[in-house]
Amino acid sequence: MTVTEAVRQRRSIRAFLPTPVSEATLREVLDTARWAPSGSNVQAWKIIAVAGDERDAVVRMALESMGTPSLANHDEFPVYPPNLWEPLRTRRFALAEDMYRALGIPREDKPARLRHVARNFELFDAPVGLFFILDRRVAHGQWAHLGMLIQTVALLLEERGLGCCMQEAWAQFRPQLAARFALPPEEMVYCGMAVGHPDRAHPVNDFPRDRITVDELAQFRGF
Ligand SMILES: Cc1cc2nc3c(=O)[nH]c(=O)nc-3n(C[C@H](O)[C@H](O)[C@H](O)COP(=O)(O)O)c2cc1C
Repeated sequence: MTVTEAVRQRRSIRAFLPTPVSEATLREVLDTARWAPSGSNVQAWKIIAVAGDERDAVVRMALESMGTPSLANHDEFPVYPPNLWEPLRTRRFALAEDMYRALGIPREDKPARLRHVARNFELFDAPVGLFFILDRRVAHGQWAHLGMLIQTVALLLEERGLGCCMQEAWAQFRPQLAARFALPPEEMVYCGMAVGHPDRAHPVNDFPRDRITVDELAQFRGF
């Protein structure tokens, strides 16, 4: 598989088969991913990988915490700004509509939509969860660097026929995750990632996604 194929093929996987992913496979992926670049090579990142009983305990912790008030957009690092502007707002809405259409969940069925959101906290049944840890003292640059590591992991998984879904949804359980992983006070979970073998037959893994065009993305000057 070429890098181009991996980038073009990768998509967020939100339904997984129960087939396990071995520690050896994951180690090999992360051993390569650690070559992702970071400004000044500071590598201000850490990953906690969970499987088996530990994975189940994290899932249980999240599901039990679901009734408690969400901290997602009230903590020091909200996932989205409070009033997302256009065209970002519309793009976000379109993704949700496309996904719920694939799942056969109509707009009015709020309980079903909420149940799907909660599937994030079951890691969409993936056997492995990765949690990307960042030191809260870092500047904006290091947040961007962590993104490079995350996408590198995703592409390496793709190359191995595995799939993943990056999950900012876990931000709402930052305090609970920090406690579970015994993180020191300066560390926090940025996001999670469900990792496993994609259920290729599931419609949630098959709906068309959109992207802005290359001319919306980039300006070409002086060519
Ligand atoms: C950092 C990050 C966090 C994300 N968090 C979630 C999430 O919590 N739940 C979810 O279902 N998808 C999540 N996504 C997936 C995005 O919705 C998805 O990448 C986007 O719609 C583009 O679709 P694609 O990944 O299939 O190309 C996240 C993506 C990124 C990059």
